Amino acid sequence: MNPGFHYHPDEAISNTMNVAVRADQHLRISHIQKALADVAVRDRWLADANTLIVGGGSNILFVRERLDKVVQLDASNSGFIDEGDTVLAWAEAGLGLDKWVRWTVKQGWYGLERLAEIPGTVGAAPIQNVGAYGVQLSDVLVRVELWDREQQRRVTWQAAECGFSYRHSRFKAEPTRWLILSVTVRLHKTPPHDWPQLNYPGLHEAALHYLDDVQGTTLAVLTPHDFTQIVTRVRLQKLPDWRQPALGSLGSFFQNPIVANNLAAHLKENWPNLPIYPQHEINQSKLSAGWLIEQAGWRGHTQNHAGIYEKHALVLVNLGGARGIDLWDLAKQVQADVFRKFGVRLMPEPLVI
Ligand code: EPU
Repeated sequence: MNPGFHYHPDEAISNTMNVAVRADQHLRISHIQKALADVAVRDRWLADANTLIVGGGSNILFVRERLDKVVQLDASNSGFIDEGDTVLAWAEAGLGLDKWVRWTVKQGWYGLERLAEIPGTVGAAPIQNVGAYGVQLSDVLVRVELWDREQQRRVTWQAAECGFSYRHSRFKAEPTRWLILSVTVRLHKTPPHDWPQLNYPGLHEAALHYLDDVQGTTLAVLTPHDFTQIVTRVRLQKLPDWRQPALGSLGSFFQNPIVANNLAAHLKENWPNLPIYPQHEINQSKLSAGWLIEQAGWRGHTQNHAGIYEKHALVLVNLGGARGIDLWDLAKQVQADVFRKFGVRLMPEPLVI
C-alpha cells in the first residue's frame, strides 16, 4: 500500500539558484490525507521547528550546505467549483504555480494570467504573496488550507486572515508554524471591465508585437492565454529562464523598498530620474530596488562565480559553481553600498538560510 509519503536519507535539495545543498533526512509527501494521518510525520517531522519546508526551491538562498530535516509536498491535485459567472479554482501545494496558471487560462478564465512564468509551487506562492504586472496573488485568493505545526491541526484561513501585503503574509512572519496544503482562488469567466489592462511599462509594446506575430487584429480580442504569452516574453527579456539550468537565480533578490514620502522626495532632489510609485493606501512611497542597484554601479558585476544580472540589476545570479556564501557575500555588499549611497536598506526577498 502507498503510505502517501517517502523518506530519503542524505538527499540533494534542488533549487533554481543551483547551489549545492543536502538534507540529512528528506521527507516527500505525495498524499496529504494519508501523510497527516501518520503520527511520525506529525510529531517527528512537522511539529519539529527545525524541519524546513521547501517548495520548488525558487525562493530560498541556501547559505548552509547541510540541512537537518527537509519536507517537500509533491501532492498536486487541482479542481474547481463552478459558481456561474465565476469559478473557485483550487490546487494542492505541490503543483507548479506556472502549470496551474496555464491550466486556468486554457479554460478561458481571467485572474491568474499575469502570474505566468513565475517559478515555484502553488504552496509557496501565498508565503511571499507573489505578484507581477500589477496583480498580487492576494487579489484573487479566497482561502488557504493549512496544517498548523504547533497545534497539530488542519485549519482554513480566508484571505483577510492571511495578513497579506506587498511580498508579505502571516506565513512569512511565522515561518515554522504553517504548512500550506492547498490554495483556492476566484476567477472570472468573462473579461474584467478594464481588460486587457496593459499600462505596466513594457506590456503594451509586447502586446502589439504579439498581435503582429499571431496576426491578431485588436488588443480587445486578447484571451487570458494570449496574456500569458505576452507576460512570458516580457519576463524572458529581463529575467533568467528558470527552466534553463545554465544560470541560477531566484527572480528578484531584493524587495522594492517602501519608504516615507519625505525620504523619497528628498532623494528625488538629488536623483531626478528616481522612479517613485506612491502607495496611497499606506501613505508611503515604493522605490525600484533595481534602479538603486544599477545607479550604484552593480549591474553586470561578477565575483567568485556570483553576479548581478546584466539585464536586470535586481537579480542575483549563479554563473556556475558559486556557493551560497559567495552569493550572499555579494548581496550583502550591494545592500551596504545602496545604504551608503541612498540611505535605503534593501531587504532580501527570498528566505536566506
Ligand atoms: N530598473 C532599473 N534597472 C534595472 C532594473 C530595473 O533601472 O536593472 C528600474 C526601471 O526603472 C524599471 C523599474 O526599475 O522601469 C521596474 O523594473 P521592473 O518592471 O523589471 O520591475 P521590478 O520592480 O524590478 C517587480 C517584481 C518582479 C515582477 C516585476 C513585474 C519585486 C521585488 N519584483 O520587479 O517580481 O516580475 O515587478 O511586475 O517586486 C520576483 O518577485 O521574483 C519578481 C521577478
